Amino acid sequence: MNAAADPALFAPDDAADPNEPDRTLAANAAPAGRWTHQHLLDVDVLTTDDLDLIMQTTATMAQVLTRPIPKVPALRGWGVTILFYEASTRTRVSFEVAAKNLSADVVNIAAASSSVSKGESLIDTIRTVEALGARMLVLRHATSGAPYLAAEHFSGSVLNGGDGWHAHPTQALLDLYTLRTRLPGGIVAGRKVVILGDVMHSRVARSNLWSLTAAGADVWLCGPATLLRGFDAWAAAGVAGSRRFTVTSDLPAALRDADVVMALRIQRERMASGLLPSLREYAARFGLTRERMALARPDALVMHPGPMNEGVEIAPDVATGRQSVITEQVANGVAVRMAVLYLLAGARDSAATRESAATRESAGARDSAGARDSAGARDSAGRAAAE
Ligand code: NCD
Repeated sequence: MNAAADPALFAPDDAADPNEPDRTLAANAAPAGRWTHQHLLDVDVLTTDDLDLIMQTTATMAQVLTRPIPKVPALRGWGVTILFYEASTRTRVSFEVAAKNLSADVVNIAAASSSVSKGESLIDTIRTVEALGARMLVLRHATSGAPYLAAEHFSGSVLNGGDGWHAHPTQALLDLYTLRTRLPGGIVAGRKVVILGDVMHSRVARSNLWSLTAAGADVWLCGPATLLRGFDAWAAAGVAGSRRFTVTSDLPAALRDADVVMALRIQRERMASGLLPSLREYAARFGLTRERMALARPDALVMHPGPMNEGVEIAPDVATGRQSVITEQVANGVAVRMAVLYLLAGARDSAATRESAATRESAGARDSAGARDSAGARDSAGRAAAE
């Protein structure tokens, strides 16, 4: 089954519900056949075509979300396990809502209440959830690289819900989608996007660097020098060799004429002591206040991946002000996660279809070889009889 090619998958779940069967939606459904990835571990392996496909599929899912009953049967019968080893509200809940909107069978595991607390290893846990029927695994882990290890031991698809300081692909994708829906003309290329705050400990910043530079944004990373360490060298080397970005502790220079300012939380739980004198000092020097936002373009967008520490990295009136798209980011998170779950399922299905077609083909080849052989045997038997 190629999931995208089957309009039934985008039909409303129940013919009797108030949703009209939506042919346009089916026609708009992205061709999952173009999607080739088994896992979503980071955005660094995604091509611009992949990013476009995700954005297009997200738009389709966003339409589904406007229906009175925002549910489609695309993943009916699919076991999706959400395994989080770290605290989370929005990412975990939005993966759960997304999978349920696609009619998947969702299992949630909080590591603290699972056998992990009895010393079970990550690999054992992954084998267990697979044996219990999971075909997709959404994993959040404090160790960078954990989802990559999981992908080696899980035969379904692994989705990275955030690993250590390393990557948070669905956050970067929902940020890109939010920008494409909110920037004039949907154009991200050439826009000045400032990522402000604790860049060093942020997987959100690292993933956004890839996707935003891929989309052609002029990315600026800004914060105290102690929280930008290592990024200078990366900026000089370029993302993917050629895409550059700017690293600075000069806040006015970063904010001047910015089109977008994304504030990041100070990640105290990941921070070694001595990197910041105090949160109060940070707020005074780098907090995103209304006065500072005045340096940016008048309609500049304010973003934050959440959770926010209002009064530290962002002032409450900026967080909820006219320019803020923070709650839209959260809402778009559901559509983007529906899109990636759907695309990964489509890729798995088309891989399975290709495999069974290949099996059929080789069986067919065997059969016709067998038929040729026996026809040949008959022929020579016939010739022998005639001779
Ligand atoms: C972020 C995370 O966990 O990486 N939050 C999120 O997923 N929306 C950022 C953070 O914890 O500050």
